[in-house]
Amino acid sequence: MASGAITRGIILAGGSGSRLYPLSRVVCKQLMPLYDKPLIYYPLSILMLAGIRDILLISTPEDTPRFEELLGDGAKLGISLQYAVQPKPEGIAQALVIGEEFLNGEPVALVLGDNVFYGKLNFLRRAVAEFSDGALIFGYPVLDPQRYGVLEFAKDSRVLSIEEKPEKPKSNYAVPGLYLYDARASEFARNLKPSARGELEITDLNMEYLRRGELYCERISRGVAWIDTGTPESMLDGADFIHAVEARQGLKIGCIEEIAVRMGFLDHEGAQALLEDMPESSYREYVASVIGEVLGVS
Ligand code: TTP
Repeated sequence: MASGAITRGIILAGGSGSRLYPLSRVVCKQLMPLYDKPLIYYPLSILMLAGIRDILLISTPEDTPRFEELLGDGAKLGISLQYAVQPKPEGIAQALVIGEEFLNGEPVALVLGDNVFYGKLNFLRRAVAEFSDGALIFGYPVLDPQRYGVLEFAKDSRVLSIEEKPEKPKSNYAVPGLYLYDARASEFARNLKPSARGELEITDLNMEYLRRGELYCERISRGVAWIDTGTPESMLDGADFIHAVEARQGLKIGCIEEIAVRMGFLDHEGAQALLEDMPESSYREYVASVIGEVLGVS
């Protein structure tokens, strides 16, 4: 791995999920199904595909134990999963404060627990492997930029500004919930002032890097699908998308067991142990077929 590569990841999977009420009364958004898997599988799979195996999952006091029950310590997937609580949804940037000890002065890939990416992820693998200093965010073209943090670019592609949910967006490039930060992110996040809505805003953290001339941005190509879930409509659209691709190809999106096997995180024995935990199901059959294909056992 190139020096400076990012080896640690944080998944922020708390929040209030108010747009999904009453679905979110007793189940948090990231544990809800997106077609055939819990939503959290998708952002977790993104970190794994980027080669990140040391991961902190942050959620609410009620939901953190549920994620632990679902995913355990990660050993079965050949990764390390730790957990931390965000007592109140006081902003995305707070993840860097909560995760400071876990990061131990290392750079980080932060992904939101409700963001799904599908397609050629070379851009992310490269960014993670070659990361040096500053912050790297991404730009993704959307039809409705008013709903997002929106980037304004200079002619040479430098970021000029980021505006949170602007009425008159300066571009159609939204910022997805995937951010790479150097070792200073926790310190910068700690020094942010809460916004009018009482949150440590991720846009303010990015602005801090921008002011220092150290905010870099890469545009994600249209060949990659970014699905931002959070409303009943987007959950349905996301599920339809996953279903359509999986039904056509016979290959699953966001199957963390498959990714663990294909990324070489597990040996034969570890792969077989995965199956022992699963009841007879089409999911188990799928994972068994992947193990057979990659490792020659089933
Ligand atoms: P949002 O979609 O902005 O908020 P939400 O999930 O609480 O939903 P709603 O707007 O319907 O109330 O959050 C984006 C992601 O970040 C989501 O995965 C939840 C997570 N999040 C936290 O974990 N803690 C926070 O303090 C905030 C603001 C978000």
